[in-house]
Order: sequence, then C-alpha cells, then structure tokens
Amino acid sequence: MLIDSHCHLSNKDYDDVQQIIKNMQDNIMIVSGADANSNIDVVNLCSKYSNIYGVLGIHPTEITENIEKDLQYIEKHINDKHIVGIGEIGLDYHYECDKELQKEIFIRQIRLALKYQKPIVIHTRDAIQDTYDILKSENAYQVNVTIHCFSESLEMAKLFIKEGAKLGIGGILTFKNAKKMCEVVQNIDLKHILLETDSPYLTPEPFRGTKNEPKNVYLVAKKIAELKNMEIEDVINITTKNSIAQFDLC
Ligand code: NI
Repeated sequence: MLIDSHCHLSNKDYDDVQQIIKNMQDNIMIVSGADANSNIDVVNLCSKYSNIYGVLGIHPTEITENIEKDLQYIEKHINDKHIVGIGEIGLDYHYECDKELQKEIFIRQIRLALKYQKPIVIHTRDAIQDTYDILKSENAYQVNVTIHCFSESLEMAKLFIKEGAKLGIGGILTFKNAKKMCEVVQNIDLKHILLETDSPYLTPEPFRGTKNEPKNVYLVAKKIAELKNMEIEDVINITTKNSIAQFDLC
C-alpha cells in the first residue's frame, strides 16, 4: 500500500476527481487544504472516502481579509473524522509579500495545532531560516511536523531531522537538475522520509509537463529505491509506515 502524504484534490484541480481517487484505490491519500474553498473540499472528501485523510490550513500566499472566518472554520472541523492535522501552513517569500502578516498567521495556526495536539504540515519557500526559527520558538515539535516538498540543503535537512521533523519528498527528486535533492535522499535514513506528490503540481519524470496525480507517488518511491540502492517494495513499506505513524492513521 502506497501513501501519498500530500496532494490537492479540489474540484478546481481536476475535471474528474472521482477518477483520480479511483486510481488510488487500496492506497491512501492525505489531502491538503490551502485556502477557504479547498479546506471545505478536504472536509467533504474526508467524510466520503475511507482512504482519504486531510489536513486543514491557510497557505501563506492565501491570507485574505476573511482570515478570521477561515481560521474559525479550521478549528470547527479540526476533530472531524479523518482530519489529521493542520496544513499546509508556513512562509513563502518568493513574491513580494507582507512577511509580518505571514508570520503572524503561521504562528496562530501552529498554536491551533498545539492546542488540539495535531500534526503540522509545513510549506516553506525562500523562507527557510524564518520557518526554522518560528517552529523552534513556538515549540512546534511537541507535535509531529512534516516539511512538505522538502527541497533545501542536506545541512538544513539534518537540522530539521534533529528536531524530529519528517521530510516530504516528491516529484522534484526525479527532475534532471535535482542534484541537491538526490544528495539529501542518499544521506538521510528512510525513516525520516514521507512520499508525496503535491498533485496536481510537480509531476515526476517521465510525465513532467502533464497534470500530476496521487498514483504517481509510485515514481517517487522508484527514484528513492534507485538512489538508495534498495528494493522498491522496501521503500514503499517503510515510508507507508512512516506516514501512518506521523499522522496517526488507523
Ligand atoms: Ni501542496
């Protein structure tokens, strides 16, 4: 059984979400919210499908004037069936933005996760140091933390692992210019890694350029097996166990 530990399955992402879900039958998906609408979709999907779990959160680039309402929605549904965490939350300085506002909303969502003792799924882009510092100063590692779509240096990987965080590894690993990522995967133990796709984005090779979907998580496992000189079945078994433990799936 494969687990895609991070994907997006809103109606806006796919014409036929049901078919995408069907392609993952007998496997598990953890669907991530990012804004008000996708959080509603996550709640609905989790109530409908036994193999779908979800996390709810407001992505740093999706903070709007409705933020109070959006955070209330998350808190209201945090103990719903199959809602297993807060995410994806974090910092994204890639485009011109209000950094202080991002930090404030990030911290408030961390505190929400701590209040309900729920795992946290982190999005971080061009903001790794602030992300690291805030997680530490907020004592976020009291709960399970996943750095989704990890694409930072090996040095940074080791720092997060030291705190107990898991690294979500996705399709970027299969790209031709993924030297840094390959170095990370080769030098850290598989027990720190969760497989993910971040569908519909970041499609792994050889399908790069098409829309990604959770079943492609297999290609990430295959690449890790190659890099670590392991059997793909072992990669799948270990990372599946990691995701079950990380999100307390049952
Ligand atoms: Ni995502």
